[in-house]
Amino acid sequence: MAVISKEEISLQKDFINKIYDINSRKDIKPLAFVETYGCAQNFNDSEKICGMLSDMGYGFTEDKLLADIIIYNTCAVRENAEKRVYGNIGAIKNIKKKKENLLLGVCGCMVQQEAIAENVKKRYPYVDMIFGTHALYRFPEILYNALNEKRVFDVENSDGAICEDISCHRDAPPLAKIPIMYGCNNFCTYCIVPYVRGRERSRKMENILAEVRQVADEGYKEVMLLGQNVNSYGNDFEDGTTFASLLKEVCKIDGIERVRFMTSHPKDISDELISVMASEEKICKQLHLPVQCGSSRVLKLMNRKYTKEQYLETIQKVREKMPEIVLTTDIIVGFPGETNEDFEETIDVLKKVRYDTIFSFIYSKRGGTPAATMEDCLTDEEKHKNFDRLLEVQNQISKEKNDEYLGKIEKILVEGESKTNPDTLSGRTDGGKIVNFKGDASLIGKIIDVKITKTQTWSLSGEMEK
Ligand code: SAH
Ligand code: SF4
Ligand code: F3S
Repeated sequence: MAVISKEEISLQKDFINKIYDINSRKDIKPLAFVETYGCAQNFNDSEKICGMLSDMGYGFTEDKLLADIIIYNTCAVRENAEKRVYGNIGAIKNIKKKKENLLLGVCGCMVQQEAIAENVKKRYPYVDMIFGTHALYRFPEILYNALNEKRVFDVENSDGAICEDISCHRDAPPLAKIPIMYGCNNFCTYCIVPYVRGRERSRKMENILAEVRQVADEGYKEVMLLGQNVNSYGNDFEDGTTFASLLKEVCKIDGIERVRFMTSHPKDISDELISVMASEEKICKQLHLPVQCGSSRVLKLMNRKYTKEQYLETIQKVREKMPEIVLTTDIIVGFPGETNEDFEETIDVLKKVRYDTIFSFIYSKRGGTPAATMEDCLTDEEKHKNFDRLLEVQNQISKEKNDEYLGKIEKILVEGESKTNPDTLSGRTDGGKIVNFKGDASLIGKIIDVKITKTQTWSLSGEMEK
C-alpha cells in the first residue's frame, strides 16, 4: 500500500509554516469558508482541509462575503450534487470582482474526473485552485502557489495512497468521524466512487486506535468509523486483521461510549462481525446495509454480488442476534433495464425487512461507468411514479417503527440544539434515531434517559427522566 513519505509530509509542513508566517504578519486574521457536498468521507476530508487551514493561521466564517478563501469540496455521485456546485461557482464571479485577493478552490470527487476538471478550468477562469481527492495532502503547496498568483490544477489520477499526520479540525464533541479505509474496489456499475477515490486501502490499526484515543482525550463520546465498504477492512494486510477485530480494539478505549460505522456491503457481512456487534455493548445497534434494489436480475446488472434471497438471509441472521437492531438502507429507483416488475421486488424487500429509514435516489447516469451505456426501460415519468410509491410505502413503515418507541425510556447522547427549534435539545438513541426534547444546553455531550412521548416519521420527541 502506498503511504505518503515523511519527506513529502515535511515538505508540506514547510508550506504550512510559510503561509502561517505570511498570515501572522497581517493585522486581521484571514478567514476561510469551506462548503462540503456528499458523504461522511468527504466531510472528513473537509475537516482535514480545515485542519491545514487552521495550522496556516486561518480562521473560519459561515459568510462567503467575509471570506479570504472559499473552498468547495465536491461530490460526483449524482447529477444534482454537481449542478449545485456549478451554480455556486458561478455565483462567486461577482464576489471576486469586488474582492481582488479572494481565492477560490474547487476540490473533491467532481474534479477528480479529468473531463469535469478541464471544464471547470475553462468555464470558470476565476477559479484559482482545482484539485482532486488524491491531492488533498498537497493542499498547503497548492494554496502557497495560489497565493503567489499561480493558477493550480492538480487532478492527476491515482490508485490512491494513505496520508497520516494531517491535522483535523472537527466539530465540537461529542461525535468524531474516523476514516479506517479509503477507496473502493467493488465497481457497482452505476457508481463513480471507485473512479474518483482509487483502490481500497486500509489504515494501520495502530494509527486508527491512536486517533480514537486522541479524540477520547479531547472529550468525544462517539466515533463513526468510515469507509465505502468497512467489511473489507484489513483485506489488504496479510495478517488476518478483520473489521471485527478492529471494532473489538476500538471498544476497549476508555471515554468512547458509542461506536458506529458506515457503510457495510451486504456481500461480505461476516458471522464474526454480527457476533462482535451483538456482544460489544459500545457498538450501536444500528446497521446501514444498502440493498439498492430488490430484483436479483437488476442486482446482477448492478454488479452487487448478492441476490435478493441472500440479502434477506443476512437480515434474518442480524435480527436473530440483535432483535432491537435499527436497519437502514439505500435504494436506487430506475436503474437502466429495471422494469415495473423489478421495482415490485424492491417494494417486497421493503415490506419484508421493514427498515426504520431508507435513503432513496433516482438513478443518475455517471459518465465512464458501465451502466451509462446500458439501455433504459422506463420513462422518467414512470420512474418518478415508482419513486413516489416507494416513499409512500416506506413512510408508513417508518412511522409504525417509530410508534414502537412510545412510552419507552431511551439512552440519548445529547448532540446539540435542535436545528428546527432552538429551545429544544436534540440527540440520538443507540440505534441512531433523532430525539428532540426540552433541556438545558449544559447537557450537550452527556448520555441521559429520555422517555419517548411522541413520534413522527423522521424523529421522536420525548421528556427527560428526572
Ligand atoms: N459505498 C456505499 C455508498 C456510496 S454512495 C455503498 O456501497 O453502500 C451512496 C449511495 O448513493 C449508494 O448506496 C447508492 O444508493 C447511491 N448512488 C450511487 N451512485 C448512484 C447513481 N449513479 N445514481 C443514483 N444513486 C446512486
Ligand atoms: Fe459505489 Fe458500490 Fe463502491 Fe459503494 S460499494 S462506493 S456503491 S462502487
Ligand atoms: Fe462521497 Fe460523493 Fe465522493 S458520495 S466519495 S463525495 S462522489
